[in-house]
Amino acid sequence: MKAVVVTVLGGPEVLQLQQVEDPELKDGEVLIKVKAAALNRLDSFQRQGVFAPPPGSSPYPGLECSGIIEAIGKHVSRWKVGDQVCALLCGGGYAEKVAVPAGQVLPVPPGISLKDAATFPEVACTVWSTIFMMSRLSSGETLLIHGGSSGIGTFAIQMAKYWGARVFVTAGSEEKLAACKDLGADVCINYKTEDFVVRVKEETGGKGVDVILDSLGQAYFRRNLDSLNFDGRLFLIGTMSGSVTELDLRVVLSKRLTIQAAGLRVRSPENKAVIIREVEENVWPAIVAGKVKPVVYKHFPLSEAAEAHQLMETSQHIGKILLFP
Ligand SMILES: NC(=O)c1ccc[n+]([C@@H]2O[C@H](COP(=O)([O-])OP(=O)(O)OC[C@H]3O[C@@H](n4cnc5c(N)ncnc54)[C@H](OP(=O)(O)O)[C@@H]3O)[C@@H](O)[C@H]2O)c1
Repeated sequence: MKAVVVTVLGGPEVLQLQQVEDPELKDGEVLIKVKAAALNRLDSFQRQGVFAPPPGSSPYPGLECSGIIEAIGKHVSRWKVGDQVCALLCGGGYAEKVAVPAGQVLPVPPGISLKDAATFPEVACTVWSTIFMMSRLSSGETLLIHGGSSGIGTFAIQMAKYWGARVFVTAGSEEKLAACKDLGADVCINYKTEDFVVRVKEETGGKGVDVILDSLGQAYFRRNLDSLNFDGRLFLIGTMSGSVTELDLRVVLSKRLTIQAAGLRVRSPENKAVIIREVEENVWPAIVAGKVKPVVYKHFPLSEAAEAHQLMETSQHIGKILLFP
């Protein structure tokens, strides 16, 4: 098969489409003929050598895909050859075929095209397992999402609105904020021209928000704590601005704050299967009802993975970028 290979660690240009061995299908796995793979920021970090693929996973990038099941391993009962599916991968999505544990596979939601379904698994599992499963965001609460126009952000806005939350976002341009508003965001903050802590306080009568989803880390840590309400929860899913910070524990104590962090990729297949089941139960109905839609910015042929990464790293995009084998 053909797959996108990280030929050496470096810039987008190191990505090359090459002929490689087909993936080996193990017990409990299905083999998917890939129709679309979606980019994630983590793919850039893998290409640069910031995050290596976990042991045992495919060396090729790609954390989510959609496609058609081509073969079934032993002990798989739910899926059959020919099923149209999308899947949460541990890597290997930038390829013509990928093998994945059956527990990480989801049906294509009715009403969604096979290719657009590739936009959902990674963002749905990340957002559901963090602000919903762990931070327990509930209807009527307030949520602040940093990077509202990102792949994660565009999904989180829609899901949180469906859940009945009041949604605040930050983003770096008026165009991005307009897109967030169209997706349902209630309070849109341009972090380049406004102090988000001040705006959050203004919009919440001085209280702060109940939950924050943050991928910046260091630069926002103290300001995130200042933006939280009593019993507020900060969920950290990335450290794009740095990872070292100081913490005044009195802020956490006095406001009864919870600080949590998690990475999806390094979870075990069993743990991912639990999240996938919850996503199918809680998120898929929102997609089927048309309340959560795929947000596709641009698609490229698999041979142009380098150009797709270049685009992602300009951060111009709103939503997801796809690769088509
Ligand atoms: N923990 C997990 O399990 C998990 C899973 C998936 C993703 N993530 C993390 O979630 C974040 C978003 O992922 P994604 O794939 O949705 O990203 P994405 O679509 O590439 O969007 C990232 C956005 O972040 C904003 N940004 C702010 N500061 C930045 C900086 N220093 N460098 C780059 N971008 C910056 C940019 O928008 P502005 O113009 O508005 O600044 C950019 O568009 C990443 O940090 C990713 O690693 C974590």
